[in-house]
Amino acid sequence: MSDLELIKREWIARIDGARDLAALEAERVAALGKQGAVTQLLKTLGAMSAEQRQSEGPRIHALREAVTEAVAARKAALEAAELDRRLATETLDMTLPVELGPQGSIHPVSQVMDELAEIFSDLGFAVATGPEIEDDWHNFTALNIPESHPARAMHDTFYFEQTDAGGNRMLLRTHTSPVQIRIMQQHKLPIYAIMPGRTYRSDSDATHTPMFHQVEGLVIDKGITLGHLKWTLETFLTAFFERDDIVLRMRPSYFPFTEPSAEVDVGYHMENGRRVLGGTEKWMELLGSGMVHPKVISNCGLDPDEYQGFAFGCGIDRLAMLKYGMDDLRAFFDGDMRWLRHYGFAALDVPTLSGGVGA
Ligand code: DAH
Repeated sequence: MSDLELIKREWIARIDGARDLAALEAERVAALGKQGAVTQLLKTLGAMSAEQRQSEGPRIHALREAVTEAVAARKAALEAAELDRRLATETLDMTLPVELGPQGSIHPVSQVMDELAEIFSDLGFAVATGPEIEDDWHNFTALNIPESHPARAMHDTFYFEQTDAGGNRMLLRTHTSPVQIRIMQQHKLPIYAIMPGRTYRSDSDATHTPMFHQVEGLVIDKGITLGHLKWTLETFLTAFFERDDIVLRMRPSYFPFTEPSAEVDVGYHMENGRRVLGGTEKWMELLGSGMVHPKVISNCGLDPDEYQGFAFGCGIDRLAMLKYGMDDLRAFFDGDMRWLRHYGFAALDVPTLSGGVGA
């Protein structure tokens, strides 16, 4: 066997014996590096005679080729073995629970709606809803607001161009009061219900947005008085604000759909520059209410001599702002994640009858 053949075998044995990539790299440098043994052999070509170079040249080049291939083959084998080893050890158990907690948050408006439902269902009230696209009759006429009534102008209504099949003008409801009409028309008496939902008016500043939320309350039964209304509102607001020093003041007012009508103020005081409900130091208007107008009751096909009731309407966004200390209504509807993370509620932190609304 020629010397070169022996040298080749020796290098291939060393390369194949390299136990890891670092050892292989050391062998590669020892053979093919600048000072490497095979590189040195190639350098001897320069000092050879032309004939010698012709015979030795191809053999030395073939040696370098064989060593280079052996390095590449060993490298591929070591890398494949390394991959197999990692695949065998790095297992991922897809059945393990993900460690992230619940994501997202409950919007304060949704939270307050849940709280209202909890409080009123405790008092025996049902929760009802109605359409946001209403007709003129349910939104105004049935509520004793006829065509020429100035209250229509005050509502800044968004009208649709189309009418419904009966020729009624369609609009985005300006309040939740039309839901009163819809449930009274069902004639399932007595009625104890709240009706939360979206409402729309063409209005926009720090305390008004074109879309906002209201909750309507309606009781229709026999022998209902203003006293029932006051007790219900006091019980509701005491539970909602989670304070027992809530004081209400009823001021005579006017709404076409109630007679008599009362605006309800709630007492508050200042603590470190913040408005805190409770006490009788200062007063703030909170909601509208009254005894359902006999005309409204008869518009729904009920006999006002037999049935009476009370109603109230309150801004939900306002309730949320007062309870949770937000001061700009527009932020409610910006969809800013930072605001939602700050003011939102944990996804699973839902008020329950057993946990209370503040749970
Ligand atoms: N619908 C009235 C509004 O949006 C609020 C209201 C006042 C509702 C008195 C009532 C009520 O049910 O009795 O301004």
